[in-house]
Amino acid sequence: MLASASTKSSILGRRFALPLIVLSRKASSVVRGLLFGFALIATAATAPDLAAQKVQLSVEVSKTGAKIHRNIFGQFAEHLAHGVYEGIWVGPASTIPNTRGIRNDVVAALRAIKVPNVRWPGGCFADEYHWRKGIGPADKRVATLNPNWGGVIEPNTFGTNEFMDFLDQIGADAYVSVNLGSGTPQEAAEWLEYLTTAQPTTLAKERATNGHPAPYRVGYLGIGNESWDCGGNMTPDYYLSQMKIYSRFVRNFNPAQQEKQQMLKIAVGPGGDGSRWTEWTEAIMKAYQNHQWSWDINGLSMHNYTVVRWPPSFKSVGFGETEYAQILKSTLEMDGLITKHSAIMDKYDPQKKVALVVDEWGAWYAPSPGSNPGFLVQQNSLRDAILAALNLNIFARHADRVRMANIAQMINVLQAMIMTDKEKMVLTPTYHAFKMYVPFQDSTFVPVTFDAGTYTSGGISLPRVDAIAAKDAAGKLWLAITNLDPNQPAEIEATLSGIAAKSAIGETLTAPKVDSVNTFEAPKTVTPKPVSAKLQGGKLALKLEPKSVTVIALEEGSR
Ligand code: AHR
Repeated sequence: MLASASTKSSILGRRFALPLIVLSRKASSVVRGLLFGFALIATAATAPDLAAQKVQLSVEVSKTGAKIHRNIFGQFAEHLAHGVYEGIWVGPASTIPNTRGIRNDVVAALRAIKVPNVRWPGGCFADEYHWRKGIGPADKRVATLNPNWGGVIEPNTFGTNEFMDFLDQIGADAYVSVNLGSGTPQEAAEWLEYLTTAQPTTLAKERATNGHPAPYRVGYLGIGNESWDCGGNMTPDYYLSQMKIYSRFVRNFNPAQQEKQQMLKIAVGPGGDGSRWTEWTEAIMKAYQNHQWSWDINGLSMHNYTVVRWPPSFKSVGFGETEYAQILKSTLEMDGLITKHSAIMDKYDPQKKVALVVDEWGAWYAPSPGSNPGFLVQQNSLRDAILAALNLNIFARHADRVRMANIAQMINVLQAMIMTDKEKMVLTPTYHAFKMYVPFQDSTFVPVTFDAGTYTSGGISLPRVDAIAAKDAAGKLWLAITNLDPNQPAEIEATLSGIAAKSAIGETLTAPKVDSVNTFEAPKTVTPKPVSAKLQGGKLALKLEPKSVTVIALEEGSR
């Protein structure tokens, strides 16, 4: 079974409810520039030689914007198929090199992309997860079922201590989703006590017996998952009454966190932009505006997959140019969705205290032929790297509200970073896009204005290029430019004001075809390569390959 019937119907509703918006309605100069460019070229789309057009970018380094929070590069690891088991966990007795059961190759790869946080254990799985079954001696753990995802046995060998060990090995924060659907506030409260108290309670002693005397840090608490659907099919009011109880009683006792950064609590939010979800956002945010001292939230979750139609029928490999364009058009709807829900949030929270947390996003295609449909196995192509870059750009443009996001999912499931098969591991094109974007973590947004131009295929028009810029803590300027056009290169000329750049170096990610993939046999088909860029008279010139993602670092010289 792919998912519960209710999950299907809600995602179906979600997809059909989405309007055909290509670009943002956000009233920022950056996006206005983008819209202007789109309108301009839309009338010129029949011109014979679009390739000859230069794309002019203007980067205004002195006009910085919001911080692009590193948490928008977060990951999601659900107990689903081989995401956790085999992807992360092979067990200490495995011949696959591991540290306390956790794959060394996967840890090294994830460290290289500086994963800021991992959302776990679900997803739909979270609302059926009972944490006590996943602690204690391995040979005493009970086997349960995973009815959401293939109905397979859940051995519970990867539980709380293993997850925290994994985070420690990759250097990421914990984003724990507690069971609001079929659990109780008491169960969740005890889980957090087990995880975080420094006092010698019975649960803390149990944690110590299980190998970790010191309290763990839990940075983020998810209060339920898709509670409007697989998390219990709740109404907003019912969810609110439950969420307030969890917010009040599920405490973080870690003394270091209590003094400094508290655990941020993330409520279930919308799954689309139909009236059902705007009502949901309205209800939660209105309650937040009037909230009492006894409960609080710091984030509102939003889920939005790029799926075009339900059930997912687009192939993840072996597709043509029209499907490439359709998927990218669909993915750009993320911008309108964020704009819509941010506007509701602004009404009730003008100071933007509550973050919009896009904690499930990415491409969802038809299952790979021969795979268990409940395992959500799909290939990951160059198209997905481009799709990832476009979404990261959207999050960056909304950085004042979108302060966390989690791509679905980290390993072997949906739009994965990594694929494994026994001892083999391969890094996907999406992984490489994330790696190229590492410098944007915790950088400061810098506005870029440009005429995007238009790329058209099969009656679908898309912006031809997309770009963001940011300044890092060391003062380096970073520019990420995506050429969506799979046929034509783009000549970029960027005017840089407010920076005297003395060097420009960068990397580009492209491949022979839009559906080129990395396989265990040919793992380097889609990998970044150095790109040459020229600096002259305060301008940067470079040529973007068709269907490519490029990131350039500009080092400031003396003014
Ligand atoms: O990522 C797969 C599933 O999609 C998650 O479990 C659920 O939250 C969403 O519907």
